[in-house]
Amino acid sequence: QGWEAQILDSIDSTNAEVLRCLAAGAPAPFLVLAERQDNGRGRRGRQWVSPFAENLYYSLGLRLEGGVFSLDGLSLSVGLAVLRCLRELGVVEAGLKWPNDLLVAGRKIAGVLLELSGDPAGECQVVIGIGVNVNMLPGSRVVIDQPWTSLRECIGHLVDRTALTLALGRWLEHYLSLHAQGGFAALREEWEACHLWQGKEVSLLAGPQRIDGVVLGVDSLGALRLDVAGQERQFSGGELSLRLR
Ligand code: BTN
Repeated sequence: QGWEAQILDSIDSTNAEVLRCLAAGAPAPFLVLAERQDNGRGRRGRQWVSPFAENLYYSLGLRLEGGVFSLDGLSLSVGLAVLRCLRELGVVEAGLKWPNDLLVAGRKIAGVLLELSGDPAGECQVVIGIGVNVNMLPGSRVVIDQPWTSLRECIGHLVDRTALTLALGRWLEHYLSLHAQGGFAALREEWEACHLWQGKEVSLLAGPQRIDGVVLGVDSLGALRLDVAGQERQFSGGELSLRLR
């Protein structure tokens, strides 16, 4: 891909490292990979368990000019890129859960965390953080507080992380360029076709608040569309999470 890259043994968080490098003037796109993270970050302030040499901890930093490239729905477009990559590697039953979880049979195989610095309306840096469970196996010593699986468990053999990294880069280039041209609107239908929870009865959790509804889909900015007591409502924001009812 011709991106500047840094491959580290150990770091607090590859997302944090990319933000530091961009702040210090690194060229973009700038990729950081690590063998392990001591403080891997997940969505909603959670920790991303990141043992040594088992998985992919991948962070791609971009510099954006406000207005040119829409941040709306970007994390969903990235989810689609990761999904296509996993399916290409043989995990054909993988799907998406709004906003950007990747699940196989209800268990998490990968996650996406976008972080931003600077001015979203002006010049800003965005880091696209992707964690993929690659060669860890359930039953090992790893403890994660939600059901999970890995590429290895799904396809039945060890996975070459270098090949995975290159494939992921290609899928990201493809979907980022579609997103740059047409925004998330251009990918909305494809995204919905991969959404595991279309039409499902769900509870949306926003801190202590809980909203029950039926999933209608997503809008052209990536917001979740729910039927709540017969009325359509839209929801967006990084702190939200969905549960099946
Ligand atoms: C989620 O909660 O589903 C998102 C998890 C994102 C984890 C990745 S691992 C690489 C990058 N660095 C981090 O600290 N987090 C992301």
